[in-house]
Amino acid sequence: FGLSVSSYKNGPAGEEAANRKVLGSSFFQQYSHIVSFVFSLYGTKERLLKPLSGFSGMSGEMKELASVISRDIYLHCPNVRWEDIVGLEDAKRLVKEAVVYPIKYPQLFTGILSPWKGLLLYGPPGTGKTLLAKAVATECKTTFFNISASSIVSKWRGDSEKLVRVLFELARYHAPSTIFLDELESVMGQRGSSMGGEHEGSRRMKTELLVQMDGLARSDDLVFVLAASNMPWELDHAMLRRLEKRILVSLPQSQARQAMISHWLPPLTSTGGVELRTDLDYETLAEDVEGYSGSDIRLVCKEAAMRPVRKIFDALELHQDEDTDMPAIHLETVTTTDFLEVLAHTKPSARSLIDRYTAWESEYKSV
Ligand SMILES: Nc1ncnc2c1ncn2[C@@H]1O[C@H](COP(=O)(O)OP(=O)(O)O)[C@@H](O)[C@H]1O
Ligand SMILES: [Mg+2]
Repeated sequence: FGLSVSSYKNGPAGEEAANRKVLGSSFFQQYSHIVSFVFSLYGTKERLLKPLSGFSGMSGEMKELASVISRDIYLHCPNVRWEDIVGLEDAKRLVKEAVVYPIKYPQLFTGILSPWKGLLLYGPPGTGKTLLAKAVATECKTTFFNISASSIVSKWRGDSEKLVRVLFELARYHAPSTIFLDELESVMGQRGSSMGGEHEGSRRMKTELLVQMDGLARSDDLVFVLAASNMPWELDHAMLRRLEKRILVSLPQSQARQAMISHWLPPLTSTGGVELRTDLDYETLAEDVEGYSGSDIRLVCKEAAMRPVRKIFDALELHQDEDTDMPAIHLETVTTTDFLEVLAHTKPSARSLIDRYTAWESEYKSV
């Protein structure tokens, strides 16, 4: 076909034959240039993360596509384990049920029990939605495509529709796969609602995404669409319907907040030869951070840990001038008072929105 599938030359013969079969379809002939580059990126050992400067003699368009794909569709293991996610037990269970078990026990998921194809995680920012998706990528043995939706639109305008098609085609080819659409509202906002009409290309892309998801629902392919959104009320209703499972990822409960603080500020941490000790009343602090998201709490912990470090900067700088040996670094203990002082200067980022999420949940919930 005059296509470059060189990256697959070393693969097993069966793989190459399968490749040809796929590439032979008319769709792939039409978009052969895109496909061959996706494949050539895909087949590299380092998986998409290699610098693209090695590709020479490409047209500008292909180069751009190749770089968009390598940046936005990553397949390497993000190294987030289920147990790294504090709390969110329900969300974890539902995600496992939807993605892990159908692959593990396909015999149980037939007929009316056919696997869910679309899953939406929604909730305030910084509550662990992206983290959950990364855990899926790490823990589930699926090919993981991570699409940051906004970059598709901005980079691809006219052609983003083709990219979506190629993406789903690839996902099917490499099934079982997960396609993760982060910040879905940025690409799947309600159609025709933006000011001054929509860009034609982005409208076509939305339609293509819907068509592709319908295709998934009808097929037996193990391809899951996992979407995340901070603003579910802005989502297109047609898209919403296709995201059959909708899971609220809410602000952490008291127990989870306590677990987070003791996770990020344990009584003793020693990294890089420096010991950091804390003396915190976890139970009380957990109540004080009510309304804070996971990422807010992490920020407060970091800032609290920073306090004793800050105190010794001056001494360290002075020492450097004197040109003597570095003294052993001894940090003061982080106390409950330290934590509370930091807290007074750090406001939760999403508390005011909570009512909106619960209202939306009662209307659109599907778990
Ligand atoms: N439940 C959680 N367990 C552990 N870390 C969390 C949790 N929620 C939030 N975080 C912290 O906040 C950061 C942002 O979370 P993220 O998943 O990106 O939020 P979002 O829901 O906006 O996608 C994470 O990288 C992590 O450090
Ligand atoms: Mg996120």
